Amino acid sequence: KAALIDATLNTVETLVGHLPDPAPDPLRNAREFIGKPYPRVDGRLKVTGQARYATEHPIAGMTHAVVVHSSIAKGKISHLDTQAAESVPGVLAVMTHRNAPRMKTPETASLFNPVAGSNTSVPVMQSADITWNGEAVAVVVAETLELANYAAGLVGIRYEEEPAALSLEAEKGNATIPTLVVTQSPEVNIGDAKAALAVAPVVSDQEYETPWQNQHAMEPHASIAAWMGKDQLLVYDSTQSPPGVQHNLARMFDLKPEQVRVVTEFVGGAFGGKVAAWSNVPLAAAAARLVGRPVKLALSRAGVSMVVGGRTLTQQRVALGATLDGKLTAMIHTGYGMRTTKDVWAEQYTFPIRHLYASPNIHVLQKVVRLDRVQNSYMRAPGETPGSFALESAMDELAHKLGLDPVELRMRNEPDKDPTHGTYFSSRHLREAYALAAGKFGWDPQRPEPGTQREGDWLIGTGVATAFYPVQQLPVTIKARITADGHVEVSTSSIEMGVGLATVQTQHIAERFGVPYERARYLHGDTDLPMSQASGGSAATSSVGAAIHAAADKLTEKLLKLAQRNKQSVLRGVKRKNVELRAGGLYRLDQPAVGESYEQLLGASGQAFVEAEGSVPASALVLNMKTSMASYGAHFCEVRVHARTRQVQVRRFMSAFDCGRIMNPQTARSQIVGGIIMGIGMALMEEAVYDERTGRLMTPSLGEYHVPVHADVPEFEVYFLDEPDPVMPMGTKPVGEVSIVGTAAAVANAVFQATGIRVRHLPITADKLL
Ligand code: MOS
Repeated sequence: KAALIDATLNTVETLVGHLPDPAPDPLRNAREFIGKPYPRVDGRLKVTGQARYATEHPIAGMTHAVVVHSSIAKGKISHLDTQAAESVPGVLAVMTHRNAPRMKTPETASLFNPVAGSNTSVPVMQSADITWNGEAVAVVVAETLELANYAAGLVGIRYEEEPAALSLEAEKGNATIPTLVVTQSPEVNIGDAKAALAVAPVVSDQEYETPWQNQHAMEPHASIAAWMGKDQLLVYDSTQSPPGVQHNLARMFDLKPEQVRVVTEFVGGAFGGKVAAWSNVPLAAAAARLVGRPVKLALSRAGVSMVVGGRTLTQQRVALGATLDGKLTAMIHTGYGMRTTKDVWAEQYTFPIRHLYASPNIHVLQKVVRLDRVQNSYMRAPGETPGSFALESAMDELAHKLGLDPVELRMRNEPDKDPTHGTYFSSRHLREAYALAAGKFGWDPQRPEPGTQREGDWLIGTGVATAFYPVQQLPVTIKARITADGHVEVSTSSIEMGVGLATVQTQHIAERFGVPYERARYLHGDTDLPMSQASGGSAATSSVGAAIHAAADKLTEKLLKLAQRNKQSVLRGVKRKNVELRAGGLYRLDQPAVGESYEQLLGASGQAFVEAEGSVPASALVLNMKTSMASYGAHFCEVRVHARTRQVQVRRFMSAFDCGRIMNPQTARSQIVGGIIMGIGMALMEEAVYDERTGRLMTPSLGEYHVPVHADVPEFEVYFLDEPDPVMPMGTKPVGEVSIVGTAAAVANAVFQATGIRVRHLPITADKLL
């Protein structure tokens, strides 16, 4: 444990040396391209059906694979009958642990090895052992999908079952404290929170529960795998990290990373579920090797919820103590989540309380319970989402006990410095966000008593909650190339998840290099391009942006060198610090009209192009070591609850955000709205139900696992303060995940105001409001 903590601190030290340069980036206030609502560069391809997703790439000789899932949680396969399936005409193979190619154990991605590329270190189909209910036990490969599906039903399997740990509640007695929660200690102790709570004049001390949740991106986890000879593998995959998938496959099949190429042109939703590879990806490659033909493997909707880990159930206690005038004197946040017996990832639900409120006494402690389930993993602001439900509900409960406006309670506890790190905030405009959203919403600081507002058959209530998401940086390398015809092309392996990254980087390139928008190009999603890690943590825009910034610096130098070699150049003898990239060329800072265009510079030197790489390292949350950096938001919501049926409808949702500089208000708004819709789903519908006797998922389709549809969501109003962060390149901060954080609490708080009933166990279904 000590060694691991040492390793973390060393990593942190190394990374802190690479913090973004706080020297002013002139682009923080640039507004020619940045800040404008450009339509998505890939919009036309998508709406005309020309965008090719993972399994839409035509390859000659394609075959189709279907997964058979285990029906027990723990034990061994004792009997396998594949003959009936194999004898179906058109079936090419039934792959099981008996005939699957040998694959090494995958390695879990972490801060120390972000390129490892797997979500779990459970071996894939290498023995008769079963470690969760739903694990892949066979893959049927056939000429058509229909044949593969039919034959999958003919595979006969019997098991020797062993007792499994399946219930978090039942295993709580065996809970342990994880070594690390992502990059931070599982425990924080400032002052004496227990003692302070005991003497606090006003206390709210409650338990909250968030349910198991499954990933259900519109495009399922899906791949095509094709071997070229024995040692070249091409994979089209729906992933957030082509290099992660590449390294994972290279490790498992004993290849060099250069022997594996992973291409991801488009992703139909990911939300953390595709940050790293699940077993379906190596299984596609193994099946392709076994049958000697390309294999297409798209998990079924049920398959996604069994093979792909979602969000752990959490049980949390939040205890808040305050003075009579609403100053926090004690904050306690503890609880339980799960991890598997093989993996270590723990959902960081205590992160919001570490940053949001000032209190002299803070106690935080996370525990984990080992269960025989699929590894839970990153899912839509992992940690902050379930954690904020508990914390922001608790703040509302405390405000009610104090008889204080919940907005005012939050404002009275705004910290001057980061409450747990003691560092200064690079930028924090939460007060302004509350003021803006409260004004637009028409917030009434003296709301009537809960359960007293009625319109006909409907009870009306309003609620607020704070949104928060930390700044992280992803390891990114890009190559920027300026061509003799005045175009600029930036390329990197990192992907565009559909949120607008390629669009905002095209804007960035145009702005940074001073070229028309049509001359800027952003290429992405292929491991043949410079290596960048997963797009995740709402960090891709800033991280890719920082790498482009770094490359632009190098290109400035290279272009100046070209000018120095040319006797006719007006830039001969000019110093580096006196030139900048602008207006399609290199120009003097002191005499803005003096300079040369890219065409002139490259033409004179006879070069077709000039190029440079730019890169930034990983720093998951370590930016917080020197400066506390995060995005913030204020959610305001109004619900109505039917007096008899107890149906809940969200009527209005308005939010204001401090997400730093907004690159593109159109794509940013879409991300925020998407996150809030997910938060409404979390508040009212989403719940994966497992049979705790068998570990079997009872909600394996969207028929049972409910998510919001259009009729469930209101019109949204989203406001951005658009204040550039002084540390980040371009002034950007996270957009995306921040919006799901706090949403469920805002809804729950509004439901309380409508009904007088406080629901602490999500989702808020009608039965809990009777
Ligand atoms: Mo996000 S859950 O880091 O893709």
